Amino acid sequence: MVKARAHSNIALVKYWGKKDIALNLPAVGSISITLEALHTETSVVFDESLTADELVLNGRPAGEKERMRVSRFLDIIRGRHGLQSAARVNSINNFPTAAGLASSASAFAALALAASRAAGLELSGQELSILARMGSGSAARSLFGGFTEMHRGKRPDGGDAFAEPLYPADHWPLKVVIAVTSEAQKKTGSTDGMELSRKTSPYYTAWVESSEDDLSAMRDALAQKDFQKLAEISEFSCLKMHALAMASNPGLIYWNAQTLELLHWVRSLREGGTPAFFTIDAGPQVKIVCLPEAAAAIVNQLQGHPAVERTIVTALGPDAYVIE
Ligand code: DP6
Repeated sequence: MVKARAHSNIALVKYWGKKDIALNLPAVGSISITLEALHTETSVVFDESLTADELVLNGRPAGEKERMRVSRFLDIIRGRHGLQSAARVNSINNFPTAAGLASSASAFAALALAASRAAGLELSGQELSILARMGSGSAARSLFGGFTEMHRGKRPDGGDAFAEPLYPADHWPLKVVIAVTSEAQKKTGSTDGMELSRKTSPYYTAWVESSEDDLSAMRDALAQKDFQKLAEISEFSCLKMHALAMASNPGLIYWNAQTLELLHWVRSLREGGTPAFFTIDAGPQVKIVCLPEAAAAIVNQLQGHPAVERTIVTALGPDAYVIE
């Protein structure tokens, strides 16, 4: 049995859209930060006595859709290693699943690490990232701590579509205040949502074409530790992704009224001199990224705010690792 822990991440330059579904190749590169307070712990054991893969998620047998997604992922490892056995997988998130807090990122990163080790494979960081990507695109980034860049790659076999560490967490110790506005499950997951955008959104080509500029501007902002630039590029990429999603047909609206209220709230905070900006994934939660000295005051002000159910504060997190 091998147990591994991987931390969640949020993209500052977003991934939305695939150029190959079977290999899960992203149409755009992305840059993210790994979050210390949000993680998945997954244990895997290959057991010849099992007739099918078993998946326990947060203490309960998982639904068939989740079990099949994990089973297909394990097939990749089994195929590579000539393994026949089914596996028992036990996975626990310390945060709400599927509410836009990127549970698939930490989940498939932890699974890639635990399952490959349990199968007797010692993969490099790059190989693990490629493997995790086949489970979920954002998972490729969760293998690494701090600041991470995912490359969309050029090769048709996906051999160059992996994430790499840009800087460790201590390069720039940012904090993230997650304002949870609703813990309800989202209606359209990212996988289906991004396919709908690719097929129907008139903004899709512009989104893909403009992504390289955002990535290069973000690399500069991180190298210079220029917070204003970081804020502008991140909000731009986030709003552009949501505009793309909203212009799909039927339109995808991941926000609720509270999400929008908080966007304005964060903007006015920044105008008032607080070093903070927002980013939002495929769900209604608002992640407020800030300089470390601003975090406590932001949490204080959000306490009792009618738009916020609860807050989670986190620093930047470490690489994924094997626990036992
Ligand atoms: C909005 O990685 O969940 O969080 O590859 O289909 O599993 P799949 O998609 P996923 O998409 C993440 C989308 C996002 C932006 C991001 O994390 O870059």
